[in-house]
Amino acid sequence: MSLVSILKRSGPNGFGYGSTAAQVTEGLDLSGRTILLTGCNSGIGLESFRVLAARGAHIVAVARTAKKASDAGLEVGARGRFTPVACELANPASVHAAVEQIHRDGRTLDVLLLNAGIMALPELRTAHGYELQFFTNHVGHAMLSEGLLDLLSDDARVVVLSSTAHTRAPEGGIDFDNLDGSRGYDPWTFYGQSKLANLLYARELAERFQGTGRTANAVHPGVIRTNLTRHLKPMLARIFGLLGPIALKSVPQGAATQCYVAAHPGMTENGAYWADCNPAESTPEGQDMELAHKLRERTEEIIRQVSPSA
Ligand SMILES: NC(=O)c1ccc[n+]([C@@H]2O[C@H](COP(=O)([O-])OP(=O)(O)OC[C@H]3O[C@@H](n4cnc5c(N)ncnc54)[C@H](OP(=O)(O)O)[C@@H]3O)[C@@H](O)[C@H]2O)c1
Repeated sequence: MSLVSILKRSGPNGFGYGSTAAQVTEGLDLSGRTILLTGCNSGIGLESFRVLAARGAHIVAVARTAKKASDAGLEVGARGRFTPVACELANPASVHAAVEQIHRDGRTLDVLLLNAGIMALPELRTAHGYELQFFTNHVGHAMLSEGLLDLLSDDARVVVLSSTAHTRAPEGGIDFDNLDGSRGYDPWTFYGQSKLANLLYARELAERFQGTGRTANAVHPGVIRTNLTRHLKPMLARIFGLLGPIALKSVPQGAATQCYVAAHPGMTENGAYWADCNPAESTPEGQDMELAHKLRERTEEIIRQVSPSA
Protein backbone atom coordinates (compact mmCIF):
# COMPACT_ATOMS: atom_id res chain seq x y z
CA MET A 1 0.00 0.00 0.00
CA SER A 2 1.45 3.40 -0.93
CA LEU A 3 2.02 6.20 1.59
CA VAL A 4 -0.53 8.35 -0.25
CA SER A 5 -3.26 5.72 0.11
CA ILE A 6 -2.44 5.26 3.83
CA LEU A 7 -2.67 9.03 4.33
CA LYS A 8 -6.02 9.17 2.54
CA ARG A 9 -7.48 6.08 4.24
CA SER A 10 -10.24 7.03 6.61
CA GLY A 11 -12.44 5.12 9.03
CA PRO A 12 -16.22 5.10 9.52
CA ASN A 13 -16.26 8.64 10.93
CA GLY A 14 -14.43 10.07 7.92
CA PHE A 15 -11.15 10.62 9.78
CA GLY A 16 -8.07 8.42 9.64
CA TYR A 17 -4.30 8.06 9.67
CA GLY A 18 -3.63 11.36 7.90
CA SER A 19 -6.13 13.52 9.81
CA THR A 20 -4.71 16.30 11.96
CA ALA A 21 -5.86 17.58 15.35
CA ALA A 22 -7.00 20.80 13.68
CA GLN A 23 -9.08 18.86 11.14
CA VAL A 24 -10.83 16.59 13.64
CA THR A 25 -11.85 19.60 15.74
CA GLU A 26 -12.67 21.95 12.86
CA GLY A 27 -15.77 24.02 13.54
CA LEU A 28 -16.06 22.92 17.19
CA ASP A 29 -16.76 25.55 19.81
CA LEU A 30 -15.23 24.32 23.06
CA SER A 31 -15.78 27.54 24.98
CA GLY A 32 -17.12 26.74 28.44
CA ARG A 33 -15.35 23.35 28.45
CA THR A 34 -12.38 22.72 30.74
CA ILE A 35 -9.78 20.19 29.64
CA LEU A 36 -7.01 18.92 31.92
CA LEU A 37 -3.99 17.86 29.88
CA THR A 38 -0.84 16.22 31.24
CA GLY A 39 2.43 16.48 29.33
CA CYS A 40 1.20 19.79 27.92
CA ASN A 41 4.67 21.12 27.12
CA SER A 42 5.95 18.70 24.50
CA GLY A 43 5.12 16.58 21.47
CA ILE A 44 1.52 15.66 20.84
CA GLY A 45 0.51 17.13 24.22
CA LEU A 46 1.74 20.57 23.17
CA GLU A 47 -0.10 20.27 19.85
CA SER A 48 -3.29 19.17 21.66
CA PHE A 49 -2.88 22.20 23.94
CA ARG A 50 -2.58 24.50 20.91
CA VAL A 51 -5.58 23.11 19.05
CA LEU A 52 -7.98 22.59 21.99
CA ALA A 53 -7.25 26.08 23.36
CA ALA A 54 -7.72 27.55 19.88
CA ARG A 55 -11.20 25.96 19.82
CA GLY A 56 -12.04 27.88 23.00
CA ALA A 57 -11.47 25.32 25.79
CA HIS A 58 -9.90 26.37 29.06
CA ILE A 59 -6.86 24.12 29.55
CA VAL A 60 -5.66 22.99 32.96
CA ALA A 61 -2.14 22.66 31.68
CA VAL A 62 -0.14 20.11 33.63
CA ALA A 63 3.64 19.76 33.33
CA ARG A 64 6.47 18.74 35.62
CA THR A 65 6.86 22.39 36.69
CA ALA A 66 4.52 25.39 36.61
CA LYS A 67 7.09 27.23 34.49
CA LYS A 68 7.03 24.53 31.81
CA ALA A 69 3.23 24.71 31.77
CA SER A 70 3.23 28.54 31.63
CA ASP A 71 5.84 28.63 28.88
CA ALA A 72 3.81 26.09 26.87
CA GLY A 73 0.67 28.18 27.26
CA LEU A 74 2.47 31.26 25.96
CA GLU A 75 4.01 29.26 23.12
CA VAL A 76 0.60 28.06 21.90
CA GLY A 77 -0.99 31.49 22.33
CA ALA A 78 -3.44 30.42 25.04
CA ARG A 79 -2.88 33.52 27.20
CA GLY A 80 -5.76 33.91 29.69
CA ARG A 81 -7.27 30.54 28.74
CA PHE A 82 -5.16 28.17 30.76
CA THR A 83 -4.21 27.36 34.33
CA PRO A 84 -0.64 26.09 34.77
CA VAL A 85 -0.24 23.23 37.22
CA ALA A 86 2.98 21.55 38.36
CA CYS A 87 2.76 17.78 38.64
CA GLU A 88 5.74 15.42 38.66
CA LEU A 89 3.97 12.12 38.09
CA ALA A 90 6.75 10.07 39.68
CA ASN A 91 6.44 12.06 42.91
CA PRO A 92 3.25 11.33 44.88
CA ALA A 93 3.64 14.54 46.95
CA SER A 94 3.65 16.54 43.72
CA VAL A 95 0.59 14.68 42.37
CA HIS A 96 -1.16 15.27 45.67
CA ALA A 97 -0.31 19.01 45.55
CA ALA A 98 -1.64 19.20 41.98
CA VAL A 99 -4.92 17.55 43.00
CA GLU A 100 -5.25 20.05 45.86
CA GLN A 101 -4.48 23.03 43.62
CA ILE A 102 -7.08 21.93 41.06
CA HIS A 103 -9.68 21.48 43.79
CA ARG A 104 -8.91 24.96 45.15
CA ASP A 105 -9.31 26.34 41.62
CA GLY A 106 -12.86 24.98 41.78
CA ARG A 107 -13.48 24.32 38.09
CA THR A 108 -15.57 21.43 36.89
CA LEU A 109 -13.49 19.26 34.57
CA ASP A 110 -14.99 18.12 31.26
CA VAL A 111 -11.97 16.16 30.04
CA LEU A 112 -8.96 14.48 31.63
CA LEU A 113 -6.46 13.96 28.83
CA LEU A 114 -3.78 11.79 30.45
CA ASN A 115 -1.07 12.22 27.87
CA ALA A 116 2.32 12.47 29.63
CA GLY A 117 4.70 9.56 29.34
CA ILE A 118 8.23 8.20 29.18
CA MET A 119 9.47 5.39 26.95
CA ALA A 120 12.09 2.65 26.90
CA LEU A 121 14.46 3.78 29.64
CA PRO A 122 17.70 1.89 28.80
CA GLU A 123 18.52 0.94 32.40
CA LEU A 124 16.18 -0.09 35.18
CA ARG A 125 15.08 2.93 37.22
CA THR A 126 12.56 2.88 40.02
CA ALA A 127 10.37 5.27 41.97
CA HIS A 128 9.10 4.30 45.42
CA GLY A 129 10.16 0.71 44.70
CA TYR A 130 8.36 0.40 41.33
CA GLU A 131 9.77 0.43 37.82
CA LEU A 132 9.74 4.04 36.63
CA GLN A 133 7.70 3.69 33.41
CA PHE A 134 4.97 1.74 35.23
CA PHE A 135 5.01 4.29 38.04
CA THR A 136 5.06 7.42 35.87
CA ASN A 137 2.82 6.36 33.02
CA HIS A 138 0.28 4.39 35.04
CA VAL A 139 0.44 4.87 38.82
CA GLY A 140 1.07 8.65 38.73
CA HIS A 141 -1.76 9.15 36.26
CA ALA A 142 -4.14 6.87 38.18
CA MET A 143 -3.37 8.80 41.37
CA LEU A 144 -4.07 12.12 39.63
CA SER A 145 -7.21 10.91 37.91
CA GLU A 146 -8.72 9.22 40.98
CA GLY A 147 -8.08 12.41 42.96
CA LEU A 148 -10.06 14.43 40.42
CA LEU A 149 -13.07 12.16 39.77
CA ASP A 150 -15.27 14.26 42.07
CA LEU A 151 -14.66 17.31 39.86
CA LEU A 152 -15.84 15.66 36.64
CA SER A 153 -18.87 17.01 34.82
CA ASP A 154 -21.78 14.69 34.09
CA ASP A 155 -20.63 14.13 30.49
CA ALA A 156 -16.89 14.14 31.23
CA ARG A 157 -14.43 12.18 29.12
CA VAL A 158 -11.27 10.55 30.42
CA VAL A 159 -8.79 9.91 27.64
CA VAL A 160 -5.72 7.81 28.46
CA LEU A 161 -2.69 7.57 26.19
CA SER A 162 -1.86 3.94 25.59
CA SER A 163 0.10 2.68 22.59
CA THR A 164 0.31 -0.16 20.13
CA ALA A 165 3.38 -0.95 22.25
CA HIS A 166 0.94 -2.55 24.72
CA THR A 167 1.44 -5.63 22.51
CA ARG A 168 4.96 -5.84 23.96
CA ALA A 169 3.79 -6.32 27.54
CA PRO A 170 5.05 -9.51 29.25
CA GLU A 171 3.23 -12.80 28.83
CA GLY A 172 0.05 -12.65 30.85
CA GLY A 173 -0.08 -8.86 30.53
CA ILE A 174 1.05 -7.38 33.84
CA ASP A 175 3.84 -9.12 35.73
CA PHE A 176 2.59 -8.37 39.23
CA ASP A 177 5.53 -10.29 40.74
CA ASN A 178 8.10 -8.08 39.01
CA LEU A 179 6.73 -4.55 39.23
CA ASP A 180 10.09 -3.41 40.60
CA GLY A 181 12.03 -4.95 37.71
CA SER A 182 14.31 -6.89 40.06
CA ARG A 183 13.53 -10.21 38.32
CA GLY A 184 14.65 -8.92 34.95
CA TYR A 185 14.30 -5.67 33.03
CA ASP A 186 13.82 -4.94 29.36
CA PRO A 187 13.09 -1.35 28.25
CA TRP A 188 10.40 -2.22 25.69
CA THR A 189 8.69 -4.92 27.75
CA PHE A 190 8.33 -2.51 30.64
CA TYR A 191 7.18 0.32 28.37
CA GLY A 192 4.66 -2.13 26.87
CA GLN A 193 3.50 -3.15 30.33
CA SER A 194 2.96 0.49 31.33
CA LYS A 195 0.95 1.14 28.15
CA LEU A 196 -1.14 -1.99 28.74
CA ALA A 197 -1.78 -0.66 32.26
CA ASN A 198 -2.94 2.65 30.71
CA LEU A 199 -5.34 0.73 28.46
CA LEU A 200 -6.68 -1.44 31.29
CA TYR A 201 -7.11 1.61 33.51
CA ALA A 202 -9.33 3.20 30.83
CA ARG A 203 -11.35 -0.02 30.38
CA GLU A 204 -11.88 -0.43 34.11
CA LEU A 205 -12.83 3.23 34.63
CA ALA A 206 -15.26 2.89 31.71
CA GLU A 207 -16.91 0.02 33.57
CA ARG A 208 -17.34 2.26 36.62
CA PHE A 209 -18.82 4.95 34.34
CA GLN A 210 -21.45 2.63 32.81
CA GLY A 211 -24.93 4.07 33.20
CA THR A 212 -23.62 7.61 33.62
CA GLY A 213 -22.96 10.18 30.89
CA ARG A 214 -19.21 9.88 31.43
CA THR A 215 -16.78 7.94 29.26
CA ALA A 216 -13.24 6.60 29.53
CA ASN A 217 -11.25 5.54 26.48
CA ALA A 218 -7.66 4.70 25.56
CA VAL A 219 -5.75 5.95 22.54
CA HIS A 220 -2.86 4.85 20.38
CA PRO A 221 -1.77 8.10 18.70
CA GLY A 222 0.35 6.54 15.94
CA VAL A 223 4.13 6.61 15.71
CA ILE A 224 5.42 10.16 15.81
CA ARG A 225 8.88 11.60 16.22
CA THR A 226 8.83 13.56 19.48
CA ASN A 227 10.96 13.96 22.59
CA LEU A 228 9.67 10.53 23.62
CA THR A 229 12.70 9.08 21.82
CA ARG A 230 15.09 10.86 24.21
CA HIS A 231 16.04 7.61 25.96
CA LEU A 232 16.64 5.58 22.79
CA LYS A 233 20.15 4.51 21.83
CA PRO A 234 21.66 7.23 19.56
CA MET A 235 21.55 4.95 16.49
CA LEU A 236 17.86 4.10 16.97
CA ALA A 237 17.04 7.75 17.65
CA ARG A 238 18.83 8.68 14.43
CA ILE A 239 16.81 6.12 12.46
CA PHE A 240 13.63 7.53 14.00
CA GLY A 241 14.80 11.01 12.97
CA LEU A 242 15.45 9.93 9.38
CA LEU A 243 12.15 8.03 9.12
CA GLY A 244 10.17 10.89 10.69
CA PRO A 245 9.38 13.02 7.66
CA ILE A 246 8.62 10.07 5.35
CA ALA A 247 7.26 7.17 7.33
CA LEU A 248 5.89 8.46 10.63
CA LYS A 249 2.92 10.62 11.54
CA SER A 250 3.55 14.34 11.90
CA VAL A 251 2.90 15.86 15.35
CA PRO A 252 -0.45 17.40 14.19
CA GLN A 253 -1.49 13.96 12.88
CA GLY A 254 -0.29 12.31 16.11
CA ALA A 255 -2.45 14.63 18.23
CA ALA A 256 -5.58 13.96 16.16
CA THR A 257 -6.90 10.77 17.79
CA GLN A 258 -6.77 12.11 21.34
CA CYS A 259 -8.31 15.44 20.30
CA TYR A 260 -11.11 13.58 18.51
CA VAL A 261 -11.83 11.37 21.52
CA ALA A 262 -11.56 14.32 23.91
CA ALA A 263 -13.74 16.76 22.03
CA HIS A 264 -15.67 15.52 19.01
CA PRO A 265 -19.47 15.27 19.50
CA GLY A 266 -19.48 12.11 17.34
CA MET A 267 -17.44 10.28 20.00
CA THR A 268 -19.94 8.18 21.96
CA GLU A 269 -17.85 5.13 22.87
CA ASN A 270 -17.08 4.11 26.44
CA GLY A 271 -14.23 1.70 27.13
CA ALA A 272 -12.83 1.59 23.60
CA TYR A 273 -9.26 1.54 22.33
CA TRP A 274 -8.72 4.08 19.52
CA ALA A 275 -6.21 4.43 16.72
CA ASP A 276 -6.27 6.67 13.65
CA CYS A 277 -9.31 8.49 15.09
CA ASN A 278 -11.47 5.34 15.13
CA PRO A 279 -12.13 2.41 17.48
CA ALA A 280 -9.50 -0.31 17.04
CA GLU A 281 -8.65 -3.80 18.23
CA SER A 282 -6.31 -4.34 21.17
CA THR A 283 -4.63 -7.54 22.35
CA PRO A 284 -6.73 -10.04 24.34
CA GLU A 285 -4.87 -8.89 27.49
CA GLY A 286 -6.03 -5.36 26.69
CA GLN A 287 -9.63 -6.60 26.87
CA ASP A 288 -9.20 -8.80 29.93
CA MET A 289 -11.45 -7.30 32.59
CA GLU A 290 -10.25 -9.76 35.23
CA LEU A 291 -6.75 -8.42 34.67
CA ALA A 292 -8.11 -4.85 34.72
CA HIS A 293 -9.74 -5.49 38.11
CA LYS A 294 -6.57 -7.05 39.49
CA LEU A 295 -4.59 -4.05 38.26
CA ARG A 296 -7.01 -1.68 39.94
CA GLU A 297 -6.69 -3.49 43.27
CA ARG A 298 -2.89 -3.48 43.05
CA THR A 299 -2.80 0.16 41.93
CA GLU A 300 -4.98 1.19 44.86
CA GLU A 301 -2.60 -0.65 47.22
CA ILE A 302 0.40 1.12 45.68
CA ILE A 303 -1.32 4.50 45.89
CA ARG A 304 -2.13 3.90 49.57
CA GLN A 305 1.46 2.83 50.19
CA VAL A 306 3.11 5.84 48.50
CA SER A 307 0.62 8.56 49.44
CA PRO A 308 2.24 11.43 51.35
CA SER A 309 -0.17 10.87 54.27
CA ALA A 310 0.70 7.13 54.48
N1 LIG B 1 5.36 9.53 19.97
C1 LIG B 1 4.90 8.32 19.70
O1 LIG B 1 5.26 7.70 18.68
C2 LIG B 1 3.91 7.66 20.62
C3 LIG B 1 3.39 6.41 20.25
C4 LIG B 1 2.50 5.77 21.09
C5 LIG B 1 2.13 6.38 22.29
N2 LIG B 1 2.67 7.59 22.63
C6 LIG B 1 2.26 8.18 23.92
O2 LIG B 1 1.89 9.53 23.72
C7 LIG B 1 2.13 10.29 24.91
C8 LIG B 1 2.79 11.60 24.56
O3 LIG B 1 4.06 11.32 24.03
P1 LIG B 1 4.89 12.31 23.10
O4 LIG B 1 5.28 11.51 21.92
O5 LIG B 1 4.22 13.60 22.92
O6 LIG B 1 6.21 12.46 24.01
P2 LIG B 1 7.03 13.72 24.55
O7 LIG B 1 7.17 14.77 23.52
O8 LIG B 1 8.25 13.15 25.17
O9 LIG B 1 6.06 14.28 25.71
C9 LIG B 1 5.92 13.57 26.90
C10 LIG B 1 5.39 14.51 27.96
O10 LIG B 1 5.28 13.78 29.19
C11 LIG B 1 5.90 14.55 30.22
N3 LIG B 1 6.42 13.72 31.29
C12 LIG B 1 7.33 12.72 31.20
N4 LIG B 1 7.61 12.25 32.42
C13 LIG B 1 6.85 12.95 33.30
C14 LIG B 1 6.71 12.95 34.71
N5 LIG B 1 7.43 12.11 35.50
N6 LIG B 1 5.84 13.81 35.29
C15 LIG B 1 5.13 14.67 34.53
N7 LIG B 1 5.23 14.74 33.19
C16 LIG B 1 6.08 13.88 32.58
C17 LIG B 1 7.04 15.26 29.51
O11 LIG B 1 7.51 16.32 30.31
P3 LIG B 1 9.04 16.86 30.14
O12 LIG B 1 9.09 17.52 28.80
O13 LIG B 1 9.21 17.79 31.29
O14 LIG B 1 9.92 15.65 30.23
C18 LIG B 1 6.33 15.70 28.25
O15 LIG B 1 5.55 16.84 28.49
C19 LIG B 1 2.92 9.36 25.83
O16 LIG B 1 2.06 8.85 26.82
C20 LIG B 1 3.40 8.24 24.91
O17 LIG B 1 3.57 7.02 25.59
C21 LIG B 1 3.52 8.24 21.82
